[in-house]
Amino acid sequence: MKTNHLIIIPIVVFALIFSSCTNSSKSQSELSATSNPEMNIFIDSLLQKMTLEEKIGQTVLFTAGADITGPTLDENYVSYLKEGMLGAIFNIHSAKGARDFQKIAIEETRLGIPLLFGYDVIHGHKTIFPISLGEAASWDLKMIERSARVAAEEASASGIHWTFAPMVDIARDPRWGRVSEGAGEDVYLGSQIAKARVRGFQGDDLSKNNTILACAKHYAAYGAAEAGRDYNTVDMSERALRSTYLPPFKAALDEGVATFMTSFNELNGVPASGNKFLLSDILRDEWKFDGFVVTDYTSINEMIPHGFSKNEKQAGEQAINAGVDMDMQGGIFLRNLKNLVEENKVSEKRITTAARKILEMKYRLGLFDDPYKYFDEQREKDTHCKQEYLDDAKDMARKSMVLLKNEHEVLPLSKNKKIALIGPLAKDESHIIGSWSAQGDRSGKAISVFEGMEAFLGTSKNIKYTKGCEIEGNDTSNFSEAIRIAKQSDVVVMVLGESEGMSGEARSRTNLDVPGVQKELIAAIKKTGKPIVLVLMNGRPLTLEYENKVADAILEAWFPGTMGGAAIADVLFGAYNPSGKLPSTFPRNVGQIPIYYNYKNTGRPWDPEKKGDNYKSRYLDVPNSPLFPFGYGLSYTSFNYSDLKINKNEFNFNENIEVSVTITNTGKYNGEEVVQLYIQDVFGSVTRPVKELKRFKKMMLKTGESKKVLFTLTLNDLAFYTQDMSFKAEAGEFKLFVGTNSDDVLETRFELK
Ligand code: NOJ
Repeated sequence: MKTNHLIIIPIVVFALIFSSCTNSSKSQSELSATSNPEMNIFIDSLLQKMTLEEKIGQTVLFTAGADITGPTLDENYVSYLKEGMLGAIFNIHSAKGARDFQKIAIEETRLGIPLLFGYDVIHGHKTIFPISLGEAASWDLKMIERSARVAAEEASASGIHWTFAPMVDIARDPRWGRVSEGAGEDVYLGSQIAKARVRGFQGDDLSKNNTILACAKHYAAYGAAEAGRDYNTVDMSERALRSTYLPPFKAALDEGVATFMTSFNELNGVPASGNKFLLSDILRDEWKFDGFVVTDYTSINEMIPHGFSKNEKQAGEQAINAGVDMDMQGGIFLRNLKNLVEENKVSEKRITTAARKILEMKYRLGLFDDPYKYFDEQREKDTHCKQEYLDDAKDMARKSMVLLKNEHEVLPLSKNKKIALIGPLAKDESHIIGSWSAQGDRSGKAISVFEGMEAFLGTSKNIKYTKGCEIEGNDTSNFSEAIRIAKQSDVVVMVLGESEGMSGEARSRTNLDVPGVQKELIAAIKKTGKPIVLVLMNGRPLTLEYENKVADAILEAWFPGTMGGAAIADVLFGAYNPSGKLPSTFPRNVGQIPIYYNYKNTGRPWDPEKKGDNYKSRYLDVPNSPLFPFGYGLSYTSFNYSDLKINKNEFNFNENIEVSVTITNTGKYNGEEVVQLYIQDVFGSVTRPVKELKRFKKMMLKTGESKKVLFTLTLNDLAFYTQDMSFKAEAGEFKLFVGTNSDDVLETRFELK
């Protein structure tokens, strides 16, 4: 890459300031932030020229006011920008819009430091992929990486340098609406997906104009909000924090994630944005993170109602000293840091460090070489919704769907069946793309289930459609029409679920049933005696006991994105054999929550087979088991697991554990299976979960085909936070399980000596 400040930034003062730094011949991001001497010289020299106010300016992030997700505290960002008091803007999502603001930064500020543009690009930008939880259900890391790559291609063409993704919060409470944004309940799966997403967004060279900075959020333990109520309190042991909630953040960091975002919650009495333990002790000192930390939206300000800061000034002091580098939307750093330095409550060095981290990312993106490199409107037009991206989105949607039930092989449907297509989501082109769908089109671009089926069949002559009811509300007046068309059909396909706005931020629910009168609609259709195929769209695990009783087949489609209807048609008619597996446990009822597969055994584990076994850890009214366990998902074919073997029975601490198992496709369709390996450390200096996912492999098997799958476990896979909090494996007995879901497994044992 050529360095060409002088050509593209015709400002004399800028040229004078930067001319000493323009003779670099290497790409800015060829070297990492810590080992890039040219970058260090450049940033050192820039920092020397910056006033304290200008350094503070780098730590300020304001929204452009387009997609406001919370209270806007200050909208005078243009004047701040001209004064060099604004380092980054979010919620601008067009090349032209971003260029206009960049021009001000470059041409009208004293130092001409480029702005950074951020946006919530969560599951696609224009071409919308399934919601993140749905993508996680694919267990297909290559495809998940590809989805993030496509999002980065499209977003970067719209002038976006930085996405506030991936969300890597482990979530075990489906009442929490933000379950939809993450990768589910599991530490290992969540960590692998975190890495895949970071790779996809950032690519291997941040200086390319189609790569964007990723952001691991929300640090930390946000998914553990009490009672699943968003923004609520989190109180947990350090062991639980380090074992369950931190690993996906560490995985993102190991993959080179550029930024971290703090969370809204307090953790053990200290709000995340003022939490030195999280931000400095762990993130910087222990993990050696060298990117920058941004807060979530006004979360420094929120330390006042949390009861942690007595006023804004103190909140600013606590946040910057804890390790926050950039203040999102709160304006607290802007208004208070200078005074805090003058009063010796914050060192100028700390502010210089924060500014340095932010400037380094701008440098690594190549913005000092060419601040306009992301703003090519022709590229923007050419890039959005390219056919190859739409194909990828369709493929991802197909892979994300989970077949929960398929009695009497009602699926796949044969093409000549008369179909009654019923439900508020059957012809929908808006909810189908899901929440946090950035610039995804809600007005006709997305393919509805009706359109998908019609296109698949080449005609709609065998499809009779009616809505039946709304997603919410209690209007049953269209039931009679639904019953009428059901009676005329061979099979009823019902497309039901949540509205897209029922999951996501601030969307907690205490009732996880399919909302409104949709359940009553199923009951009415059931009376016709016609087979029912239920297609669900939802952003979280729902309680589906009733639906599971009455429907013949259930396909969990999540919110499948722009190509959702086409993908659903492929699955329903058997052009794609479903292969998704649940990344989150589906409870029987809300009273079981939190429910997840890797629980502890307790001193009184309940054995449902033993009658009259009272005084055990159980409920009186429902079994302990969920409706659908973690890792569960059916296929149109069947798989047999056999010959689970470990290379030895005993291992010393230097040896790897080699596991083999044979999988055979015993059904009549080719299909993909996700082979899952779990372990249990039977006893330890602290108790261990009954199962922990350690490996998985997704693979295709033709009918009748057998494949031997090999897994290698290392000592690290057996390690945990022991009683003295050191992370290590302990000698003793282990169980090892391999199977098709967390509940249905073959079992063997080995010993670590
Ligand atoms: C608040 C959300 O919690 C966060 O996930 C998001 O990135 C920011 N708003 C910016 O929109």
